Amino acid sequence: MLIKKICCIGAGYVGGPTMAVFAHNCPDIKITVLDLNKEKIAQWNDNDLRKLPVFEPGLEEIIRNRRGVNLFFSTELEKEIAVADMIFISVNTPTKTKGIGAGKASNLKWIEASARQIAKYSRGETIVIEKSTLPVKTAETIKKILNAANLGNKNCKKFSVISNPEFLSEGTAINDLQSPDRVLIGGDNDEAIDALSKIYARWINPEKILKTNLWSAELSKLTANAFLAQRISSINSISALCEVTGANVKEVAKAIGMDNRIGSKFINAGPGFGGSCFKKDILNLVYLCNFYNLHQVAEYWEKVIDINYWQQTRISNLVVKNLFGTIDSKKIGILGFSFKADTNDTRESPAIQICKDLMNEGAHLSIYDPKVNKEQVILDLKGYTNSSLNCELEKGTFEICSSVEMASISSDALIILTEWQEFKKINWINISSIMRKPSWVFDTRNILEVDETKNLDINFWSLGNNN
Ligand code: NAD
Ligand code: UGA
Repeated sequence: MLIKKICCIGAGYVGGPTMAVFAHNCPDIKITVLDLNKEKIAQWNDNDLRKLPVFEPGLEEIIRNRRGVNLFFSTELEKEIAVADMIFISVNTPTKTKGIGAGKASNLKWIEASARQIAKYSRGETIVIEKSTLPVKTAETIKKILNAANLGNKNCKKFSVISNPEFLSEGTAINDLQSPDRVLIGGDNDEAIDALSKIYARWINPEKILKTNLWSAELSKLTANAFLAQRISSINSISALCEVTGANVKEVAKAIGMDNRIGSKFINAGPGFGGSCFKKDILNLVYLCNFYNLHQVAEYWEKVIDINYWQQTRISNLVVKNLFGTIDSKKIGILGFSFKADTNDTRESPAIQICKDLMNEGAHLSIYDPKVNKEQVILDLKGYTNSSLNCELEKGTFEICSSVEMASISSDALIILTEWQEFKKINWINISSIMRKPSWVFDTRNILEVDETKNLDINFWSLGNNN
């Protein structure tokens, strides 16, 4: 099957960058990224590339070269779905907040809506690809909705549904998409699988293109995220043990990581994993296990999330403890609000919970992040006051700063919560001179070099060390 037109439903963190890389590697294919959100599509089409809704290193350049050539962003779902040979579904699949499975199962309403849009508007033969992360067996639902489109319609529409989960990480998305460890395609329609693998084979070694059945592909995505998150919870649990025993978590991570069977990646201790997917995908796995009566398996994976939450509270508690047991009305600078460096995404960022914990203790926070915009922080800290220091309030307050210096002035403590490159280059002599004494720096990402912090008029605390 010759693919000339592709569309992708969902212009988010996955849909936008993924289709940009497809457009870059397939100049002869017209690719349209669709979204119901008009404002988001306007941002993708903005002449000022700094206004793209997703910040990813390398993304701006591809958009500059391909947009309007073979890459388009549009809200015209009906028109674009009708002419597409291949449709990616890349919509959000968050955890359900109400009803059966609330707090664990995925909310598939956006998937269902996409399937219904495809069923309604598509013409002729269409390959439908699950790009979103989904519970096992979702393809069955999609197939049922699509096939219903032909009822009383003389079978004029043909669909094949395949699964092609995405493994990119935010902050390195372009590189991950351009040179992935593997591409996974699951399904039972050889022609459809072949059509998609031929597209990937334009820039990816075919040996890295893995073909499985539908259910293995869906489950592999959830399992990959669960394993990655499990490594982080494992090293975070050990970071606490390091602090009380005098071991150093960086040294321990290096020592275990040099064992090939363990490997050195994903064992950096930190304030807990964030991001839109780890927690939601493990919760989804837990829900599935319980659904199939595998309660011990469910409990096992749930612990990964428990340790993650515990690590965040542990950090807030020890900040309070070190600042003489009270942070009421004290000024604390927060360095980094995104869930990791090189992204403007704050979904499930550990910074959110830690900031709330500190404000519940009465602290006044001055928050600085190089890429997260002010409106996003305000949204994430809804329920807390965005104002200048006000000691009369019961809860603390927060303000948004435009530099490390601004966040540091008169503050009692600084907490590094995201490993932005900029924070590795801070001039601590200058910062020390503008903080209130005794001043503290809590490095929850272990990015500061011990030598730099020696002999300074600041107390430095770093995660997983005998401070
Ligand atoms: P996102 O929220 O950034 O983007 C989803 C977009 O889909 C939104 O802009 C929304 O408006 C749009 N949308 C929802 N329903 C629609 C509909 N019916 N028609 C048109 N547009 C619609 O989400 P994301 O981070 O891109 O994640 C998408 C999926 O990919 C999720 O299932 C996620 O688990 C998975 N995933 C995410 C990442 C990541 O790093 N963010 C990586 C791998 C996989
Ligand atoms: C993660 C996976 O790495 C991707 O493969 C997957 O496609 C994606 O989820 C998804 O399904 O959404 P992402 O969440 O973008 O990617 O970023 P990661 O690099 O995995 O970081 C997740 C969180 O773990 C961040 O808060 C990060 O700071 C933290 N982390 C990561 C650590 O604390 N230590 C580490 O060693 C690595």
